[in-house]
Amino acid sequence: MARDTVHGCTQCGFQSPQWHGQCPGCGAWNTLVEEALPSARTGSARVRARGGAAPGGRAAAKQRPRALADVGAAPAERLATGIGELDRVLGGGLVRGSLVLLGGAPGIGKSTLTNMVLGHLEECGRRTLYVSGEESAEQVRLRAERLAPAALRVPIVAETSLEAILDVLAAHAPEACVIDSVQTLHAADLAGAPGSVGQVREVASQIMQLAKARGIAVILVGHVTKDGALAGPRVLEHLVDCVLQFEGERERPYRELRALKNRFGSTNEAGLFEMRAGGLVEVLDASARFVAEATRAPGSVVLAAMEGTRPMLVEVQALVAPSELEQPRRVASGLDRNRLALVLAILGRHGGIGTGGADVFVNVVGGVRVDEPGCDLAVALAVASASRGVPLCASPRGCFGELGLTGELRWVGHPERRLEEAAKHGLREVIAPPDCGAGGVCEAATLSQALAVALPAPGQQRVRAAA
Ligand SMILES: Nc1ncnc2c1ncn2[C@@H]1O[C@H](COP(=O)(O)OP(=O)(O)OP(=O)(O)O)[C@@H](O)[C@H]1O
Ligand SMILES: [Mg+2]
Repeated sequence: MARDTVHGCTQCGFQSPQWHGQCPGCGAWNTLVEEALPSARTGSARVRARGGAAPGGRAAAKQRPRALADVGAAPAERLATGIGELDRVLGGGLVRGSLVLLGGAPGIGKSTLTNMVLGHLEECGRRTLYVSGEESAEQVRLRAERLAPAALRVPIVAETSLEAILDVLAAHAPEACVIDSVQTLHAADLAGAPGSVGQVREVASQIMQLAKARGIAVILVGHVTKDGALAGPRVLEHLVDCVLQFEGERERPYRELRALKNRFGSTNEAGLFEMRAGGLVEVLDASARFVAEATRAPGSVVLAAMEGTRPMLVEVQALVAPSELEQPRRVASGLDRNRLALVLAILGRHGGIGTGGADVFVNVVGGVRVDEPGCDLAVALAVASASRGVPLCASPRGCFGELGLTGELRWVGHPERRLEEAAKHGLREVIAPPDCGAGGVCEAATLSQALAVALPAPGQQRVRAAA
């Protein structure tokens, strides 16, 4: 090697002087990339000079192990962002000294959300700082003009040099800081371009050291790849305390915020927002909106889903059309593709509705993502209804339940909360697995029982079509 370089794995962070096709650390293929080693005066040394404590080194060698019971642990101090949906996803607000990584597709609203967060915190008298590496201060001001007046009071530095940013952080000592984005920052010690594996890792770890030492809550905005995964090294996700994903459909105003990792709270929660001219608005009546929008046409089913601890009614739509392809399409939007394949197989085997020669498209309306097994029955009924070209009987009608491989309908969590939500929004009846509750429940033990209840018998179907 011409100069001091090392080969680092983008998945697990393993480092080796030689290049390997397969990472000896995690076994992944083609994940090692060459990076320059930091110079002798390392980032950690610089962070120590700014008053931060770097882990490791001689001081670490003097540490004595002690029982956990002897460790004094104050409860994590949190800063409420004033945005209820975000606070809920975070587990009660931003934790001081923590690093939150916020990822999302281009233009989804990451900067808008973080601008709003700092605006709210400024309004509450907190010291904040917005570091923009992507946009000029003027551009950020133009966006802030759309938002609440407090957003204009947020101090900003438009800077990409890591050293300059660490100096500002040390001098300004904010309680909360946004770095937009981590991929644009550049550490002078490393030769790689901004956004390269080594750079992103170095930038994040130096900011983390200062943030932990000074108790600054930092939100790092991150890019996502074409597949929707967070760009940059996987180690970045391990390094930070919380990974948030902001997602939604471009054509629809709804945006969903999810925690993929959270050291201070659950990863089950999701927050729903709507992008408007004045910024992101929390959607607190999602069920009412989605039920009102449900089409009640063939292929449309209302699912009583759980978004973490919150019940939510969403419309699942399916389209089944003859395919001209040798391998028909299976397109799932808002749910797992493998889950769709499984439900189609169960529907064919235990429901008598084969889709082998057809393209199947399933969509959870509104850009919402449903990541729970309770959606199986809704997907099966939507596909069955679309395949037969008839709407569900007694529509609007809700449903939930997991499908077993032997065609049984299985119990899922929080049936009473799902049923309450359905009743609140006027669903006359809900098809659910056995033992789910009393009023308004139409219990079905198997998929075929659920299909018999939900879809009109073939005779009635003809009458309906003639009418
Ligand atoms: N006046 C407006 N009314 C409604 N929505 C708007 C308006 N102006 C901007 N938007 C929305 O805000 C989005 C841009 O938001 P923002 O800059 O926060 O996204 P981002 O995720 O930070 O993007 P990038 O990845 O480019 O940094 C636009 O895609 C658009 O949907
Ligand atoms: Mg942005």
